[in-house]
Amino acid sequence: MKHYLQFKDLSAADYAYLLARAALIKKKFKAYEKHHTLADRTLAMIFEKASTRTRVSFEAGMYQLGGSVVHLTTGDSQLGRAEPIEDSARVISRMTDLVMIRTYEQTKIEAFAAHSRVPVINGLTNEFHPCQILADLFTLVEHRPAASGQPLDALRGKVVAWVGDGNNMANTWLQAAELLGFTVHISTPRGYEVQASTACVTDTSCYQVFKNPIDACRGADLVTTDVWTSMGYEAENEARRAAFANWCVNTDMMAVAQPDALFMHCLPAHRGEEVTAEVIDGPQSVVWDEAENRMHAQKALMEYLLLGQQG
Ligand code: CP
Ligand code: NVA
Repeated sequence: MKHYLQFKDLSAADYAYLLARAALIKKKFKAYEKHHTLADRTLAMIFEKASTRTRVSFEAGMYQLGGSVVHLTTGDSQLGRAEPIEDSARVISRMTDLVMIRTYEQTKIEAFAAHSRVPVINGLTNEFHPCQILADLFTLVEHRPAASGQPLDALRGKVVAWVGDGNNMANTWLQAAELLGFTVHISTPRGYEVQASTACVTDTSCYQVFKNPIDACRGADLVTTDVWTSMGYEAENEARRAAFANWCVNTDMMAVAQPDALFMHCLPAHRGEEVTAEVIDGPQSVVWDEAENRMHAQKALMEYLLLGQQG
């Protein structure tokens, strides 16, 4: 049994399969072709933080695969009344086939997984957001495919510029870069840097740090950012607003990237903070494809965790 708690829980070969499978699943979805590979399977979704995309993409995705979902939040379950996470895992995993969790510390999802009888998927923790990076990579491959047609060839050697917080998204980009052979140019305000130990990367050559965000964007194939204040860090809002003022992706930053560079943002976005409206609503932005691709990529992921490689 495989869990998907962080990006590196799967191998490069797994990603080659998943990216190709997601493309097939998307094509069938667009053609209204049935794809009921998870008929009679149930996904439990546990949300300890807010969500729009993650909820809709997993819920709609599971129904499209022929399965069903159970939606739990901290407030409407015993999780909010201090039932131990281990006991919740034992119970929920006896009644469902797959569990997706959005929570705070990574240690919490690890504790759940250690006591689960079924695969567990990370739907965002303080440290990682692997499903989002899976969708982002799928989007990058879709927009900039390799001549060979092989998804991993489209990623190898690419430069991804990360402008902003050294957060769960940044950490996951580093893991993806280390595993799949591309480089992250990262620029964060002082005090908000990524830590290789938190990101769990051993080969620090997969990323380069830049003081000035425009330098990180120079020559990049993809420029990407995220909110200044992630969920759970709201108490730091004011300090972050001051610290991040120069880390707003604008047209000057896009101008020094590759001429065909893409812009991505996991969303939700705050126009005028981490990105200007001109960039996120501009011609290089692929944020709506990126959001939609959460569903196609996660359908491939759920199928893979439950059934292994298909076809
Ligand atoms: N990008 C993302 O995970 O969005 P939600 O918080 O809406 O799920
Ligand atoms: N880094 C953000 C991502 C939201 C999808 C957060 O954790 O709130």
